Amino acid sequence: MVQTPAPPFSAYAKDARVEIDAALERYTEFDADCPAVLRDAIQHSLLAPCKRLRPLLVLMAAEACGSNREAAIPAACAVEMVHTYSLIHDDLPAMDDDDLRRGRATCHAKYGEAMGILAGDALLTSAFEILGRDIRDASVAAACCVELAKAAGASGMVGGQVDDLAAEFQDAGLEQLERIHRRKTGAMFLVSLRLGALVAGADDEQLAAMNTYGAKLGLAFQIADDLLDVQGDVASMGKRTGKDSDRGKLTFPALLGVDESTRRAGQLIDEACAALTIFGPNASQLEALARYVVERNH
Ligand code: IPE
Ligand code: IPE
Ligand code: MG
Ligand code: MG
Ligand code: MG
Repeated sequence: MVQTPAPPFSAYAKDARVEIDAALERYTEFDADCPAVLRDAIQHSLLAPCKRLRPLLVLMAAEACGSNREAAIPAACAVEMVHTYSLIHDDLPAMDDDDLRRGRATCHAKYGEAMGILAGDALLTSAFEILGRDIRDASVAAACCVELAKAAGASGMVGGQVDDLAAEFQDAGLEQLERIHRRKTGAMFLVSLRLGALVAGADDEQLAAMNTYGAKLGLAFQIADDLLDVQGDVASMGKRTGKDSDRGKLTFPALLGVDESTRRAGQLIDEACAALTIFGPNASQLEALARYVVERNH
């Protein structure tokens, strides 16, 4: 466990989010060939108020491995763009069919279904343009492209989303639930940390510690998301609640109950933080973020 007291998570996050938001705004100005309605649809979803956990993880991992925030900003933005694309598509009528996201109308609810699909497509592809162009070391840029593609793709986030939909109203066990959560959510958490570490030139021991922290954090995060769907309120969440049981989703509270799910999430966070020891005080922000993930109300 990291011993040095961290400044409050929210103070660090507040500053870093300002930097992330400014960079995301710059990256989505596009040129005159981008239709104005497409830019508006992208910015509507991407620049809405939200937690920015994945880009924060990129920055915090880079700092924990001895680099600075600035060098990690392109990777942080790329990860957030892929994440926001996944949310826009997750909300489509063919998927979870949601009308509220980040306190706003969902992208397709405001701009139409075709624009929702296309805004997601553009965000996904822009992410790789940014990695390829703005990460200074070409071999690090290539490694980041490969890792993000794998984490977001058929064996990662997209694969997890496919199985999440297939599991609706089905009897499935804990093993299948963890397999879904590991890919649909965990993979993007893990790759956020790995990209930050790669930009910082991390060694194998540091990457291995990030793997352990990230896998446990990612699962705890999705358990907390499942719990908030049961216990949270729309005003603080900025998205609808009670949807998982309506849609027959396979979730932790549905399978294990609220108390056991809460206990497991807390235990995973303890285990995640234990993996940070090798970073010493440089990992204090990663520890604070982990605690926040299970204590949050949104
Ligand atoms: C929501 O992610 C989607 C899930 C993986 C459960 P977040 O709760 O991190 O959403 P934002 O990015 O803060 O809107
Ligand atoms: C979404 O999981 C995961 C991805 C977008 C990859 P959920 O469907 O549980 O997310 P929310 O609850 O709609 O944010
Ligand atoms: Mg979903
Ligand atoms: Mg959803
Ligand atoms: Mg959810």
